[in-house]
Amino acid sequence: MRTLVTGANGQLGKSIKNLVIQQQISDSFVFATRDQLNLSDLQGLKSYFETHKFDLIVNCAAYTKVDKAEIDENQANLINHLALKKIAEIAQSNSIKLIHISTDFVFDGFKSQPYLESDTTNPLNIYGKTKLAGENAVISIMKFNAIIIRTSGVYSEYGNNFVDTILKQLKKGNELHVVSDQIGTPTYASDLGLAILNIIKSEKFNRNKQESQIYHYSNNGFCNWYDFAKEIIKILGSNCILNSIKTEDYPTTANRPRNTVMSKDKISQEFGLKINFWKDSLKVCLKNISVISTSNKN
Ligand SMILES: NC(=O)c1ccc[n+]([C@@H]2O[C@H](COP(=O)([O-])OP(=O)(O)OC[C@H]3O[C@@H](n4cnc5c(N)ncnc54)[C@H](OP(=O)(O)O)[C@@H]3O)[C@@H](O)[C@H]2O)c1
Repeated sequence: MRTLVTGANGQLGKSIKNLVIQQQISDSFVFATRDQLNLSDLQGLKSYFETHKFDLIVNCAAYTKVDKAEIDENQANLINHLALKKIAEIAQSNSIKLIHISTDFVFDGFKSQPYLESDTTNPLNIYGKTKLAGENAVISIMKFNAIIIRTSGVYSEYGNNFVDTILKQLKKGNELHVVSDQIGTPTYASDLGLAILNIIKSEKFNRNKQESQIYHYSNNGFCNWYDFAKEIIKILGSNCILNSIKTEDYPTTANRPRNTVMSKDKISQEFGLKINFWKDSLKVCLKNISVISTSNKN
């Protein structure tokens, strides 16, 4: 299956690329960075797919700056909604399958149980609204052959993420203040990437005319950001001071939902996926970061 992965310089794009190299299946993948395929150029998108032929698009590109989106709605909507709508139209008319990544921020966070795919959406911020508009466009254009995977709290060895922020603060010897009243589940990008590759290889995905579906994927278990920081500090054996604070003590431009724990039963049952516990995946990521930084020093 000739597969295009967009957003190749992002956390998920890079993680998928690494896995594809490890699995020696690079020949069937094309990884496009923003420079190679800019989603904000809708006409350019159309021309790109006239000259490049694929069987599957894995859309990892997105406008992911949650706070900036509040003052940059047009750009967020262009990438997360309008470009995705165009991609879905192209996929639909060329019989290309689509795997698109969405977010837990489509929910308002007021549910006390884990969110199901069928639960009512009600985003609290512009980022979530544009991602939901993108989901709706895909589902209405592609009755078949599209999969939307909502994920949460993505971190990796690459780029800006919560783990990276904590590591930088620890390096500076700073005392940490982290919110403890927003609950969710972190997702190690490499685990999500592997889940996507396993889905692509599955018999179910390769059957013709599968009805388009939404799935949830994160690591297993749940925690708040304070717990997450505490676990990083514990694994590293750091003696830094960590303080728990409330959301109102750390005002951000965008509102964030308080509880976005999602049920992963649907994706794990339908594709036979084994999902790692968040603390186990965090250990793997921190180990890889230390290997990367040691080899950079040598
Ligand atoms: N990060 C999270 O915590 C989180 C949580 C829930 C859901 N998600 C979703 O998971 C997916 C992957 O997220 P991620 O963490 O890998 O995000 P990321 O690291 O921010 O990567 C996003 C990628 O999209 C690219 N991009 C942005 N605008 C573009 C444009 N106009 N044309 C082409 N590419 C463009 C970026 O390019 P540059 O590298 O050039 O900037 C970047 O490489 C996204 O759909 C996101 O919404 C993420």
